Amino acid sequence: MKRLENKVAVVTGAAGVLCSVMSESLLREGAKVVLADLNEDGAKGLQNMFAEKGLTETMTVAANVLERASLEAARDKILAQWGRIDILVNGAGGNHPKGTCPAEQFTEGTKLEDSFFGLDLAGFEFVNKLNFIGSLLPSQVFCQAMLKHGGSVINISSMSATQPLTKVAAYSAAKAAIDNFTRWLSVHLAPMNIRVNAIAPGFFITNQNRFLMLEQDGKTLTPRGQKVISKTPMHRFGDPKDLCGALNYLVSDEASFVTGVVIPVDGGFLAYSGV
Ligand SMILES: NC(=O)c1ccc[n+]([C@@H]2O[C@H](COP(=O)([O-])OP(=O)(O)OC[C@H]3O[C@@H](n4cnc5c(N)ncnc54)[C@H](O)[C@@H]3O)[C@@H](O)[C@H]2O)c1
Repeated sequence: MKRLENKVAVVTGAAGVLCSVMSESLLREGAKVVLADLNEDGAKGLQNMFAEKGLTETMTVAANVLERASLEAARDKILAQWGRIDILVNGAGGNHPKGTCPAEQFTEGTKLEDSFFGLDLAGFEFVNKLNFIGSLLPSQVFCQAMLKHGGSVINISSMSATQPLTKVAAYSAAKAAIDNFTRWLSVHLAPMNIRVNAIAPGFFITNQNRFLMLEQDGKTLTPRGQKVISKTPMHRFGDPKDLCGALNYLVSDEASFVTGVVIPVDGGFLAYSGV
């Protein structure tokens, strides 16, 4: 019997770079997987790709992690079709240039608009909301369906939660909130055997950070990308598959007494001071 047989997993942001790989991994461990995304076409495309690989226990739902009604409709559809929800991966999230400030530090000659003082509040709020409320609201809606039999929630944190990265002010604050919320919710739901943990990925090349890590040729490291690699003791970016061991462990019964933890999957980035 596979580790996650008879479990139903909901993955938000499933059509994204990291969560599509995590979804495949949950399927291979035997779970039925709900591919939930704002971009339903993307989720359907992924469903077709999985079907070609013989992974057919999927359903897609159009879900906006910032809209309760959309999440409740998704939950009702899942319960009507599969009768239960055991696992929630809060994968939708990420950075956006609107919540980013171009200057790493404020020095003599830095233009105000390139610094903290020029941060666009609407952009800041967008990134903060997507990453924090976009995990809180799905947890409220989907964990209700776990109250009878227990379950497991995985939030996606970041290196930026504990070591705020320059430029990404809104993202860093939101991911710090995710770590705190992970611990808070783990305590709140522990009596109902609902475990809440997080994975903190290191650096993976995805659509949201490609412009920060690689030059336009898609190969040469930017100065920022070089800094990341030199501060990563394993001297490489992560491969999305690197996340799956921690994910499958945390959502399986092997982690039945593990709750409230944030596991870095970062090639040693957090352990290394850089000196
Ligand atoms: N890429 C990295 O190096 C890295 C590092 C640390 C953490 N993370 C985190 O991992 C998670 C996934 O990142 P990714 O790079 O794979 O993202 P991605 O941009 O490839 O995918 C994000 C997905 O979320 C969906 N989405 C966006 N807004 C939504 C909404 N309101 N409701 C529902 N779905 C929505 C998008 O349609 C997309 O399919 C994010 O939380 C990100 O912050 C990424």
